[in-house]
Amino acid sequence: LRIAVFASGSGSNFQAIVNAVQEGRLDARIELLVCDRPQAEVVERAQKAGVPAHTFKPKDYASREAYEQEILALLQEKGVELVVLAGYMRIITSVLVDAYWGRMINIHPSLLPSFPGLHAVRQALEHGVKITGVTVHLVDGGLDSGPVLAQRAVNVEPDDTEQSLSEKIHPIEHVLYPQVIQAIAEGAIDLKQAAQPKTKDGM
Ligand code: GRF
Repeated sequence: LRIAVFASGSGSNFQAIVNAVQEGRLDARIELLVCDRPQAEVVERAQKAGVPAHTFKPKDYASREAYEQEILALLQEKGVELVVLAGYMRIITSVLVDAYWGRMINIHPSLLPSFPGLHAVRQALEHGVKITGVTVHLVDGGLDSGPVLAQRAVNVEPDDTEQSLSEKIHPIEHVLYPQVIQAIAEGAIDLKQAAQPKTKDGM
């Protein structure tokens, strides 16, 4: 499976995917890292792993569509079959969503549809939920809103802080994301089916 990973920050999920490929747990080739922050730590991780990186500054472009057209051309040139968002902190427009509908996934640190958007761990704490977790989902045009592919639950303890809860959630992401990508590579997760509407006759 030829994949591209999009990330903006530290890239610990990117690293988990690299490690899984190197250790033979994930039958995929990382064709490209796409990063909107050239100084981000994830760019160094890509260099060390020998993964080509496309970095760009959004403000150098006239519009989101303009930089996404450039990214789309790269993805097509490299024959990318699956786009993996891993802490990519930008809205994706219809340029990429339409081209990769059903072939673009994201990981989010809550049990969606609860707590989409920024600071999901903080949102869960502030709401006082006793269970939160991690979701991998297909990307549609909305904010963390596409069909769910996999979830893992994490208990929230009374003394948890944003940091302690994040420290429980991150390692779960690092196990789950490579597993989900491998399940897609093997066909154990059927993305075509996941992309179908879930209800009949609009009920
Ligand atoms: C992760 O918590 C992921 O769920 C969210 O962004 C964070 C990325 O962290 N979408 P990292 O850059 O992979 O360390």
